[in-house]
Amino acid sequence: MSLIERDKEVVWHPFTQHKTAGDHLEIVKASGVLLFDADGKEYIDANSSWWVNVHGHAHPHIGKAISDQFNTVDHVVFAGVTHSKAVEIAERIVEKSPDNLKKVFFSDNGSTAVEVGLKVAFQYFHNQDKPRKKVVALNGAYHGDTFGAMSVGQRGYFNAPFESFFFDVDYLDFPTSENREAILSHARELFSSKEVAVFIVEPLVQGAAGMRMYSPEILDELTAIAHEFGSLVIFDEVMTGFGRTGKLFAMDHCKNKPDIVALSKGLTAGVMAMGLTVASQEIYDAFLSEEKTKAFLHGHSFTANPISCAVACASLDIFEEKETIENIASLVNWGTEFIDELKTLHNVRNTRQSGTIVAFELETGEGDTYFSDIRERAYDYFLEQGILLRPLGNTLFVNPPYSISKVEYTKIKEAILSFLQSI
Ligand SMILES: Cc1ncc(COP(=O)(O)O)c(C=O)c1O
Repeated sequence: MSLIERDKEVVWHPFTQHKTAGDHLEIVKASGVLLFDADGKEYIDANSSWWVNVHGHAHPHIGKAISDQFNTVDHVVFAGVTHSKAVEIAERIVEKSPDNLKKVFFSDNGSTAVEVGLKVAFQYFHNQDKPRKKVVALNGAYHGDTFGAMSVGQRGYFNAPFESFFFDVDYLDFPTSENREAILSHARELFSSKEVAVFIVEPLVQGAAGMRMYSPEILDELTAIAHEFGSLVIFDEVMTGFGRTGKLFAMDHCKNKPDIVALSKGLTAGVMAMGLTVASQEIYDAFLSEEKTKAFLHGHSFTANPISCAVACASLDIFEEKETIENIASLVNWGTEFIDELKTLHNVRNTRQSGTIVAFELETGEGDTYFSDIRERAYDYFLEQGILLRPLGNTLFVNPPYSISKVEYTKIKEAILSFLQSI
């Protein structure tokens, strides 16, 4: 039996309707920005393998960190025990974060990093005997697929079967240049109730909603209103973190800082699974008590897995290299040039860029929908051209590893331009 046949026998893939899905692509090797299939065909990893890969695949510094750590401490329980790589990554993340963020909690992925953030926020108020039950989020949000994370995300076909189990959330409209006043007044109305525990956002770019972008200025204003009425603010930097917006974090573009930040994806260079939730000292202090039940009673088997922590440290080493900083700057410039070309085309709408991410809508006459047929056509076309690029509905976006060369970026750009000519 071929691998594809064996896969069909036993594997249940994410976000996949198996009745109608075609064969999965068998990838046998990954190196730099390239993926290789079983026939030896190569593909540029144009969306960084679900937005996680930042330095390219099989980076030797990451590989060495994995093997060194495996031979030092591979895994150990993290309650009652610590180890050097957990402390090192926590120190380095705190050092790179805004001054108010001081404590790092470890979990396994982006959803759990958000879930921990929400639980910490609710318990912060609970521990002080002033429980707040409301949450405010943005329309179009995606924060992950666990229950808390789904509850604060956009309601719709992705989570409809579970909706009756979600907690109540009030949604603000997605900020645009036209609706500033209306959003600010809606926010003031919601937060002034002083019942809102937490305001959660994907700062500057909503990923799964189609790389929708908004300004740091409006986010600063919303954060300020939430803080004015004593609500906590969570920035979900799972997608935006680690260079995507051109700076290390999206919050680096903002004046007003969050109380809690969720990190994952690029944290471990897209190689190991880990999530971090970084909280302010004030929040941490609200869990200190003689009463054991005021502790944060949450943990995972693989909390602070030493190999994941070592990879996160190695990834930060690479971020600190001059070459990476220059690569990110070049990618931002190539993106801007690409946007200029896209703007001249009639079947392209709403071109936008945040740092290394370039996105636009294909004008299909069908409106914007995740299930647009054009998605399949585009996906197949790019595969044919040797590019793995997963559109979100009729939104095409490019967010490759930062180590991509100009030649490889140009190949993606030319394939997109030729696809646009073909439709
Ligand atoms: C902003 C944001 N938050 C949370 C998540 C969930 O992360 P994970 O898929 O690692 O659970 C994602 C995943 O795409 C995301 O983009």
